[in-house]
Amino acid sequence: MIIIGSDHGGLNLKTALNSYLHRRGIEVTDAGTSGDASVDYPDFGQKVAETVIAGEAELGILICGTGIGMSITANKIPGIRAALVTDVFMARMAREHNNANVLVLGGRVLDEQKACDLVGAWLDATFEGGRHQARLDKITALEEKYS
Ligand code: RB5
Repeated sequence: MIIIGSDHGGLNLKTALNSYLHRRGIEVTDAGTSGDASVDYPDFGQKVAETVIAGEAELGILICGTGIGMSITANKIPGIRAALVTDVFMARMAREHNNANVLVLGGRVLDEQKACDLVGAWLDATFEGGRHQARLDKITALEEKYS
């Protein structure tokens, strides 16, 4: 299961990605927001990140206007590796090298087709492990040092 969340700046893209994921046969939980009203992105970033860390979702997708606020928020939660991406190469690398468990997109940056392409590239990629795992272990050590 993938959990997806956005603020008002990412709502349209979230709707499009919900349809895309359903078309791919992937179970999706929508964490909101569900209307045009202005909301605070940390509330939705927290919900998606905590659901992933709890093991209740395999992966998460977050969208705000730029993706910046959501990525800052999600990366505060230990164990989350949230990657803000803007092209297919970055989306693929986010999985192959960084094993990103949350993908972050900018609703005011990307059109719907591009966003679907990025999510597809991320989902279809595989973490390479090896030297990349050793680097992720160093990030985990940093989390432990500062928490
Ligand atoms: C909301 O206006 C906007 O600040 C938010 O969607 C996001 O871009 C923050 O990083």
